[in-house]
Amino acid sequence: MGRRKLKPQKEAESPDVQLNRMQVDDDDKDSSVETAAVAAATPEEASSLSPSPSSLSPPPIIAPMEDVAGADQTSADYYFDSYSHFGIHEETVRTRTYQNVIYQNDFLFKNKVVLDVGAGTGILSLFCAKAGAKHVYAVECSNMADTAREIVKGNGYDNVITVIKGKVEEIELPEPRVDVIISEWMGYFLLFENMLNTVLYARDKWLVPDGVILPDKASLYITAIEDADYKQEKINFWSSVYGFDMSCIRKQAMLEPLVDTVDQNQIVTHSQLLKTMDIGKMKIGDASFSAPFKLVATRNDFIHALVAYFDVSFTQCHKPMGFSTGPRSRATHWKQTVMYLEDVITICEGEALTGCLTVSPNPKNPRDVDITVQYTFNGKRAQASRTQLYRMR
Ligand SMILES: C[S@@+](CC[C@H](N)C(=O)[O-])C[C@H]1O[C@@H](n2cnc3c(N)ncnc32)[C@H](O)[C@@H]1O
Repeated sequence: MGRRKLKPQKEAESPDVQLNRMQVDDDDKDSSVETAAVAAATPEEASSLSPSPSSLSPPPIIAPMEDVAGADQTSADYYFDSYSHFGIHEETVRTRTYQNVIYQNDFLFKNKVVLDVGAGTGILSLFCAKAGAKHVYAVECSNMADTAREIVKGNGYDNVITVIKGKVEEIELPEPRVDVIISEWMGYFLLFENMLNTVLYARDKWLVPDGVILPDKASLYITAIEDADYKQEKINFWSSVYGFDMSCIRKQAMLEPLVDTVDQNQIVTHSQLLKTMDIGKMKIGDASFSAPFKLVATRNDFIHALVAYFDVSFTQCHKPMGFSTGPRSRATHWKQTVMYLEDVITICEGEALTGCLTVSPNPKNPRDVDITVQYTFNGKRAQASRTQLYRMR
């Protein structure tokens, strides 16, 4: 055990994790909180639940390459404008969840003015328009806005959706207020390169009092894993490279959390909720926080790393809906965030690794995230106490 691989797609949550976090993943059909709405993960299921989503599929747009938005971009352009590339807009778990949220809760959208913050291809705006929105403002700062305009027109929604190319913080909206804000803003570790501040800015500037914000809750969790093989391969390798000391690189490798898919069989402890953010109420700055954790071992094993992941929820729906990016849930492009510990913790079932995790934006580059983990372990077979810093950049 220890080397990560993609988990099997149909696995039930373990009861311990069910206790600790809201069951929102679309795999967890038999979990305690209502998930039927999110259960429509396959196109077949979705089409039986939603008002003919397949009719949303755009007709193929055939155009000479020079007419295709972005066709003349170089790899350097993509590097500086990564959201212009369509590949990043292909995630299915998240898009399917948003689709179900919108179609199954059309009462939230009927005759409402909607703002789509960071619209990308405009897919969420199309869902909202189809659900009956009076008007949708799709704001997108990258060149994908040009493509979104083409897609909106190609699907006959240009009378309902207005694509505005520009930064949310710099544009003017034709209307003073919106009834609904929808956004897919989450980054790795929830907050890396995050757009949360952009959503909060839009909320404070345009959302009517008691307006709807989707999603409205985001929760960050932590658990611990056995990961001897990967730690050896990714970290300890640098201690002796063909007999030479390259431990200066090892230090850098330890500083950078690894975004990767964790096999659920590696999980050694319960999960702990660190922080729930209420997007409707929180203030800019609330995304910096310190949270204590206590991770209780569910078996005798070794802990090599802590693993962070998040859930998002849409609690203003008729039934609570959402999805999880946890290691027991269907894989998403967010994967999980692995933070290797200097110590190998020899832990016995029932013993606890305790500590505190602090998150804040990097002062020089606020889109980067600084994480500090302080941990203490006092077990029968091992003891450890340490503070480690990590930088997501
Ligand atoms: C993760 S994508 C989501 C795209 C789309 N909503 C979807 O669900 O597929 C986030 C988008 O927000 C855009 N974005 C980020 N910051 C922005 C800002 N301040 N103003 C406008 N758009 C922004 C990015 O260019 C990117 O296309």
